[in-house]
Amino acid sequence: MADIINNGNHAALWSGRFKEGPDAAAVAFETSIHVDERMAFDDIKGSIAHAKMLAHQKIISQDEANKIVEGLESIEKDLISGKLAIDYSAEDIHSFIEATLTDRVGEAGKKVHTGRSRNDQIALDERLYLERAISELVSELKHLISVLVKIAEEHTDHIMPGFTHMQHAQPVTLAHHLCAWAWNLTRDCSRLEDALKRTLVSPIGSGALAGSGLPLDREYEASLLGFDSVTQNSLDSVSDRDYCIEFTSCFSILQMHLSRFCEEIVLWSTSEFNFISLSEKWSTGSSIMPQKKNPDFAELIRGRTGKVYGDLIALLTMMKGLPFSYDRDMQEDKQSLFEAYDTVLSCTKIFTYMIESAKWNLDVMEASCKEGFLNATDVADYLVCKGMPFRTAHGVSASCVRLAIEKKCHLEDLSLDEFKSASELFESDIYEFIEPKKCVNARKTIGGPAKEKVLEQIKALKDFVLR
Ligand code: ARG
Repeated sequence: MADIINNGNHAALWSGRFKEGPDAAAVAFETSIHVDERMAFDDIKGSIAHAKMLAHQKIISQDEANKIVEGLESIEKDLISGKLAIDYSAEDIHSFIEATLTDRVGEAGKKVHTGRSRNDQIALDERLYLERAISELVSELKHLISVLVKIAEEHTDHIMPGFTHMQHAQPVTLAHHLCAWAWNLTRDCSRLEDALKRTLVSPIGSGALAGSGLPLDREYEASLLGFDSVTQNSLDSVSDRDYCIEFTSCFSILQMHLSRFCEEIVLWSTSEFNFISLSEKWSTGSSIMPQKKNPDFAELIRGRTGKVYGDLIALLTMMKGLPFSYDRDMQEDKQSLFEAYDTVLSCTKIFTYMIESAKWNLDVMEASCKEGFLNATDVADYLVCKGMPFRTAHGVSASCVRLAIEKKCHLEDLSLDEFKSASELFESDIYEFIEPKKCVNARKTIGGPAKEKVLEQIKALKDFVLR
């Protein structure tokens, strides 16, 4: 494309002190533009606010500020349209935008960095980027919660075995299980939104480390950027990467949740379980075994979890020995933060597609509730209702289980005489009491699997998504 403007090689912002230019290999090693280019629009937004504040404080003229703002807006427009290409020979996105601005507006461009350092600039750019990025992630998570709730609403009557230690434990419903997943995601949303509150505080005006002798108005600049407050210590402002670490730990917890859901999907799609059939669109085959339909997407989500944890450890380790204030080590923060973010965002989207297109094998789940004495606790609860102490009732129910194992039958197949041989308190209503659907609907404690309680959860989850 002939009309793409490439800005060619600009000298580094700091080149004035040096007689010799840096070695090409040195430049290649230290530049970060391939990573930080994704903050181009955040950098422009920050510089527009900075120019306006400089004019407001009469540090530059209104005319100069107007030129800077127009120049920055034209850069943004041309980056969006593709008319302006990023110059990857620039050291970082700040250098590229400042140099392009000066090319476009001349001397006024050289004033944009007045009273500012890349140290406070990068801290601002990252916070502005996170504001956008976290809002996108939270809305994807809320969409996933709605998808889970929609499936749950259709299955409040469909029972499935609940497990502990991967052994049949007590019956629940598919709706109850899917709501359990959804609650995990509500905590992820809250954690992200909470971390955002600490992040949306403006560091700009902290300079390289010691603020500025020029009469900058930090609060005015922050208000132009939509921040309610400014950071309170200039050294802290340029040394702090807590927000990168905090978000990457939120991402790690979120990815751990997705990984657990995926583990269940992998298990449930085996022929042994067969609780779920993934759609063909979200499955893959084998190059040798013609019959295969594999849950690769669930496995890849589970598999990418280690990468997100790795990013968190990289950030914690990168920061642990750094003296205050800025050290170049900190440039490495973006790679970890962005990789973790990209991973959780794409995994959330893919998980949503996979789950909304899956088919639930309800008859298999219901049949599976027959096995494993899921109603043994209810046999004990029956006796408790008749006044027997729970510990004694537990023993009586266990003896019924032993008898059923010997007879190779279910608890409900024992005759009333056999029940009575374990305890005289059993009457013929025991059969209705331990019917799996009855057992589920008897569990009306808050948060329990009874249909009326699950409907309350569904309502609360819907309210969460809308709030
Ligand atoms: N690219 C740098 C980073 O991401 C920007 C700050 C550079 N500051 C400096 N003093 N070299 O951390």
